Amino acid sequence: MSSSALPAVPPSVLPSVPPPAPSSSPHGALSAARILERIEALARLSEQPDGLTRVYLSAEHARANALVGDWMREAGLAVRVDAVGNLIGRREGERPGLPCLMLGSHLDSVRNAGRYDGMLGVITAIECVQALGAQALPFAIEVIGFADEEGVRFQATMLGSRAVAGTFDPQLLDLADARGVSMRDALRAFGLDPEQVADAARRRDEVLAYVEYHIEQGPVLEAERLPVGVVTAINGQQRFRIELEGMAGHSGTVPMALRRDALAAAAECVLAAEAAAHAVPDAVATVGQISVAPGATNVIPGRAVLSLDVRSPRDADRERVARTIVDACTAIGARRNVRVSATQTHVLDSCACAPWLRQQLAQAITADGHRVRELPSGAGHDAMALVGLTDVAMLFLRCAKGISHHPAEAIEAEDAATGARVLLNFIQRFRPQGGAH
Ligand code: GLV
Ligand code: MN
Ligand code: MN
Repeated sequence: MSSSALPAVPPSVLPSVPPPAPSSSPHGALSAARILERIEALARLSEQPDGLTRVYLSAEHARANALVGDWMREAGLAVRVDAVGNLIGRREGERPGLPCLMLGSHLDSVRNAGRYDGMLGVITAIECVQALGAQALPFAIEVIGFADEEGVRFQATMLGSRAVAGTFDPQLLDLADARGVSMRDALRAFGLDPEQVADAARRRDEVLAYVEYHIEQGPVLEAERLPVGVVTAINGQQRFRIELEGMAGHSGTVPMALRRDALAAAAECVLAAEAAAHAVPDAVATVGQISVAPGATNVIPGRAVLSLDVRSPRDADRERVARTIVDACTAIGARRNVRVSATQTHVLDSCACAPWLRQQLAQAITADGHRVRELPSGAGHDAMALVGLTDVAMLFLRCAKGISHHPAEAIEAEDAATGARVLLNFIQRFRPQGGAH
């Protein structure tokens, strides 16, 4: 299959597309109801029936690209899937071939995810394009549903946006998922050619800016009773895979002093990570995955593999915390006679949002009648990867209790309408830096 064709999806697996709901917005065609209905439909494209899990290059990813691609076409966008699996819809400006304002977010999810993280930004951008109708703008618009932001499958994040930014390292293709399937083979199974991933990269002169609309995933806007906010900067992040190799043995016969228990060593490593991050202001460290082998009640664990995720607004702090944790794990292994190896699978420095874009987002918020609140992002976003390609900015929407990466993730319908109005307002007023192109 060529990289511009959509993977075939049996029609029976697609949820029916709800008819457009009547608009309740002063912008004639904007419909919060349609945004929310589409998000519900998208949430049904999941690995498991009773929750949302959609990982990179899965069957659900192909179905999501097909479904969202249909909505893009309905909004008048020309649709393609790029060489790494991103879904891209393009609306030309006053004349074909103008540089674009890039909008969007990601279509993948964490395991047992909320339904707004990523999806809200893509669906709302499509809604805004639909609302623009035939209005001619002096720039093109591209809406992108990024293929991988969460990095759940291969432990390296933002694979879609990195490819667009031209910073996708081909060595990443060797990363394997939990079943041992390499990214190279997964791309082939999806109908893409791993040798062509570099074709997803965009030229700087094709893009005016990238603006991502996303739920806040934190409690600040709700606490201040504000529907939207403008992001100042996004914290940097680093990930590791830590492998501990001890010796499996009989749980009844090997005395405690003679054991090389990989899981007991891993438990100490988890606590060392917690302590290292505690010691540095604003730094956070998380072990979110642990696998143990052979995995039987009466067998001493011989092997354990941990994930480690370290973040901070300050890159030097993040690097220091990560080094402290890896050194601590090595020392724990040496003391327990357990071999420890730590492999960095991902790193992204913190990223500042462009003041000129922040200002234009702020104007759109003011025009909608809200106080402008600026705030940093503790979560990672595709905008971080795109900062090498173009200036970036983010609009945050309030979410319930700041809960995210959890099925209880929720937003108010009224907020969905507000966010869409602000984004549309921003698009209609958008002035590229340095005037028209
Ligand atoms: C993505 O949501 C991340 O911050 O890991
Ligand atoms: Mn997320
Ligand atoms: Mn997200």
